Amino acid sequence: MTRIAVLASFNMDLVMRAARRPEAGETLQGEFAMFLGGKGFNQAVAARRLGADVAVVGRVGDDAFGARFLAALDAEGIDRTAVSVDADAGTGVATVVVEPDGTNTIIQAPRANRALTAHDAERFWQRTARRPVRGRAGTALLNLETSMPAAIAFARAARDAGARVVLNPAPAVSRLPDELLALANVLVPNALEAQALTCVSVRTPLDALGAMMVLPRGPQALVVTLGERGAVAVAKDLRLHAPPPAVEVVDTVGAGDAFCAALAVRLGEGAGIEDAVRFANAAGALAATVAGAEPSMPRRRAVEALLASSAAVPR
Ligand code: RIB
Repeated sequence: MTRIAVLASFNMDLVMRAARRPEAGETLQGEFAMFLGGKGFNQAVAARRLGADVAVVGRVGDDAFGARFLAALDAEGIDRTAVSVDADAGTGVATVVVEPDGTNTIIQAPRANRALTAHDAERFWQRTARRPVRGRAGTALLNLETSMPAAIAFARAARDAGARVVLNPAPAVSRLPDELLALANVLVPNALEAQALTCVSVRTPLDALGAMMVLPRGPQALVVTLGERGAVAVAKDLRLHAPPPAVEVVDTVGAGDAFCAALAVRLGEGAGIEDAVRFANAAGALAATVAGAEPSMPRRRAVEALLASSAAVPR
């Protein structure tokens, strides 16, 4: 079993399904639902359901939302020894609008996530994540929903421990600290995040390849996720566009997180980038077939079944 350490953000997702996004000054009515979410939490849950041994570091508030996250981590069998409860800041919250075609827009209030410190991340690697699994140092998976100092310290400690660092630069930033970029082995932005980093408009696989050429050097592999168009990967001797398996899209919230987790799991298992991207595409596609973040994180057997059935049906 491969080991994945995740820099976890925790957001309670307050989701409105509506006919469209409101215009400025407009009130619309929609259907409401609440789901456990947060990029780091989603990634941790997906990695676990895909078969990894998962440990997380993060921070929740001392409130009902925080308690629900702690219980969910326990139920999934995720090591949460390094998740602290903040006495002052509440658990992160995200307001999500999902449109009929399943696409989403999100506003996230980091709250307790932002209070995570570099020291918390370093201590996590000293006490929890460094423990190797069958001799493997494992994989570190991080996003940018906690604090930047925590993200940098997490990546640095991971590399010191010999782990592979997979960086999902989300939410989008226009510039990544040089140190963080240098620590990443694999960079996995979506189209908007790649665009924010490069100022290159990214809509098509060809655009994504163009953006990758101007992305700052550092990571050995760059993987841009393109939603229904799949993903594009660039690594040494590899230029790949992998379309995803066809699915009925219900809600794309968390699809990118499932993709990142699946990529990290397969790389941790020793797969090459091409194999890992195809596996991740299937995980992301499956996540888009179910409403909500946490409920949509797919299990290993479902991903393998989708891969097998889509290999049998020519597109
Ligand atoms: O990537 C999806 C996640 O982004 C949601 O669960 C929401 O919490 C936001 O952080």
